[in-house]
Amino acid sequence: MFTLNSIVAMTENRTIAINGIIPFRYKQDLQRFKQLTINKTVVMGYKTYLSIGKYLPNRTNFVLSRTVTEIPGCTVFKDAPTMISNFSGDIWNIGGGEIYRLLLPYTQGISITYVPDKIQNNSTEILFPELDDNWSLISEVKDPIPDTDESLRHCYYNNRLLSSVLAHTNH
Ligand SMILES: NC(=O)c1ccc[n+]([C@@H]2O[C@H](COP(=O)([O-])OP(=O)(O)OC[C@H]3O[C@@H](n4cnc5c(N)ncnc54)[C@H](OP(=O)(O)O)[C@@H]3O)[C@@H](O)[C@H]2O)c1
Repeated sequence: MFTLNSIVAMTENRTIAINGIIPFRYKQDLQRFKQLTINKTVVMGYKTYLSIGKYLPNRTNFVLSRTVTEIPGCTVFKDAPTMISNFSGDIWNIGGGEIYRLLLPYTQGISITYVPDKIQNNSTEILFPELDDNWSLISEVKDPIPDTDESLRHCYYNNRLLSSVLAHTNH
């Protein structure tokens, strides 16, 4: 059995990156990312791998790439079907934009941290895909940002379409 969840931090306008970097940084969110993914399997696109610069320690690292076949500390897959057919277990999709979009149809849940940053429209911005009516908000937790009046919002969305398909296949 294969289950895929995505984890992402983004602005209210769905911006996840500008000019190849994440334009915000919250220690409490990085800690949360670590807590959720530690000792788990993560998958990322090659550009996200390059932006991190190395594999994530204490995690099994999968990278999707059509151009590279070997990366130290990572298993590289040339496409999503090959990855899915060669793995059983839980995977966190950690991005970026292309890979969130590519794997969305296989994704059961999405953990989104909304950050309060306001970012001007920018031609280099990368957006998280828009979620359609098949996605339901399951939980929302406010996480105050120390020394400010603002909060992060941690939301979890469930893919109703995929959940109902899985419920039928399991019976
Ligand atoms: N805010 C957040 O939470 C968050 C999270 C993650 C990443 N990011 C940011 O997102 C940015 C990167 O996002 P991105 O959309 O540019 O790139 P990406 O999704 O990280 O990676 C794109 C690469 O994945 C590979 N790929 C794409 N489709 C594929 C397929 N069907 N089969 C196999 N490989 C495939 C290709 O690699 P090849 O070119 O090698 O074929 C492609 O160039 C970075 O700036 C990063 O910092 C933000």
